[in-house]
Amino acid sequence: MNRDINSREDLLTIVRDFYESLFQNEELKHFFEDFKEEKALEHHLATLVDFWDNTLFYSGSYKKNAMKPHIMLHDQNPLKNIHFKHWLALLTKAIDKNFKGENAETMKNRALSIATVMKIKFGIE
Ligand code: HEM
Repeated sequence: MNRDINSREDLLTIVRDFYESLFQNEELKHFFEDFKEEKALEHHLATLVDFWDNTLFYSGSYKKNAMKPHIMLHDQNPLKNIHFKHWLALLTKAIDKNFKGENAETMKNRALSIATVMKIKFGIE
């Protein structure tokens, strides 16, 4: 596709593609077992759409602290550099497959900077 991300529907297209590839990724799939169940997945994808809608378009749709669940995750199942590498590569692929433009670039840049903050917080290099 040659157009930019403009709506929540566009963000849902991206996160759906992204999660399909996460489920198939050998390094990452164990983190996402809970979302094999359809209702849980749909709820989670809606939260991710809220997060990105807020991040890209300042919609006010996400008011939680996204860092918190990752701190809990990291305690139970340590996050490593390889996980962030695959996570970012798969998100980038899902964005580039579907969209092109300023918002698509901003989404990739924000993902990278938030991932960098998480890695610093967890002492991962
Ligand atoms: C190695 C990298 C990552 C892994 C394995 C991972 C995994 C997960 C998992 C398993 C959840 C669900 C947690 C739960 O519901 O208890 C989650 C939630 C979430 N993740 Fe990640 N994540 C990663 C990186 C990131 C990054 C870099 C971002 C931001 C750009 C991000 C944004 C989110 C958001 C917004 C949620 C929803 C939080 C909420 O429910 O309010 N994740 N992640």
